[in-house]
Amino acid sequence: MDKYVIKGGKPLYGEVEISGAKNAAVAIIPAAMLVDGVCRIENLPEISDTEKLLRILELMGARVSYVNATTVDVDCRSVGLSNKIYSLTRSIRASYYLIGSMLGRFGKASTTMPGGCNFGVRPIDQHIKGMRALGATISIGRGLIKAEAEDGRLHGAYIYLDKVSVGATINIMIAATLANGRTVIENVAREPHIVDLANFLNSMGADIRGAGTDTIKIRGVERLHGGSYSLIPDQIEAGTYMTAVAATGGEVKITNVIPRHLECISAKLREMSVSITEGDDYVVVKRERPLLCTNVKTQPYPGFPTDMQPQICAVLCHATGTSIITEGVWDNRFKYVNELKKMGAEITVSGKTAIVEGVKTLIGAPVAACDLRAGAAMVVAGLCAEGVTTIEDVIYIERGYQNIVGKLRALGADIVAVSEPDTPEEQDKRMESVC
Ligand code: EPU
Repeated sequence: MDKYVIKGGKPLYGEVEISGAKNAAVAIIPAAMLVDGVCRIENLPEISDTEKLLRILELMGARVSYVNATTVDVDCRSVGLSNKIYSLTRSIRASYYLIGSMLGRFGKASTTMPGGCNFGVRPIDQHIKGMRALGATISIGRGLIKAEAEDGRLHGAYIYLDKVSVGATINIMIAATLANGRTVIENVAREPHIVDLANFLNSMGADIRGAGTDTIKIRGVERLHGGSYSLIPDQIEAGTYMTAVAATGGEVKITNVIPRHLECISAKLREMSVSITEGDDYVVVKRERPLLCTNVKTQPYPGFPTDMQPQICAVLCHATGTSIITEGVWDNRFKYVNELKKMGAEITVSGKTAIVEGVKTLIGAPVAACDLRAGAAMVVAGLCAEGVTTIEDVIYIERGYQNIVGKLRALGADIVAVSEPDTPEEQDKRMESVC
């Protein structure tokens, strides 16, 4: 498994292009199962999550052909349920979207329980509640989820989500697209990738309104036709590069972004005295002055994203003064703090709050990526630390960041990936669940 070795302390300069959104891709690929024709998906990120989901569709009988590295044609006209997918579905968090797409397509579903990065308990009760409301009978046992719609087709329903959940919103939208009648989902998540999924499905003939607000209305249609769709850029990848520049200093133009999606991140960085200039599809991030402390609370969109919490923490480690970070989405997303402490960070965690005392500089050290965004935070910390940082378990990082080493090197960072043969434990990690 690769390690990253970073010699810190170099400011970043230049231009970096952001890839397609991971969390849109992992919803849209399963949703492609509903399409009765060929659907072309463009701007796919080249990451292991998308490769695994496409492989799952292939194992179910889909034809998947790459037009180029980031464009793929998917033809799901001859798919069927298959137990060959189970070892892969177990290794992907987003495989829970297969419940919605299988139920929508076949009126029945059979897949494994999803795993996931360990941020505390990760229930899927709202997904299940939604599927039941749409008329599915669901049984869970021995790690498998089986579901079946009465009369072979789901029906429209009114569903109120007790918790704002990205995953449940997406899953119910997918399931309701081909259901008989009208579905209304209240108290839904509003993340950009939810709007992207609705746009994808609508471009193939679905009738979904309200994505991006807290109520989504879906009129079920008989079939979806083929078409082509380009994914939005990845908000979190862009935010990660923004924090990297904030941490190291320098000036970087971040291209292929939707600046509106980054406002929650830009606002915080500005409070820290980082300059952000927005263009139509780019932002320029420049840091010339010492960083100021600030407080951050993560919330569902349009709040500050939980998936940027570890990276902003890495930046706040060397801001002047005391910052308070409150995690408002997950129960336990501060495991990475122990790794930052190995680099000299002064952070105290109490429940869902971390108090960060700014230090003059972080010092390079051997650390590990505990999960995808925690790993990204280690990269940000390593880039601005004095000396050499070695990051282990970078497989987690590569699940969500396309070519992170190449992109950072092009900005002047001294980072290399060092390959070593996998130990048996590392082989197991490759099959562990993703975020
Ligand atoms: N929740 C429930 N019941 C449910 C579903 C969720 O109580 O049925 C709770 C969760 O325990 C959590 C909150 O609701 O406290 C929000 O969870 P949500 O369902 O929104 O998260 P998710 O769909 O499992 C996605 C992303 C995560 C990201 C969260 C929040 C994917 C594949 N994953 O997870 O992304 O943190 O939304 O924005 O889209 C990442 O990319 O690093 C990552 C972890």
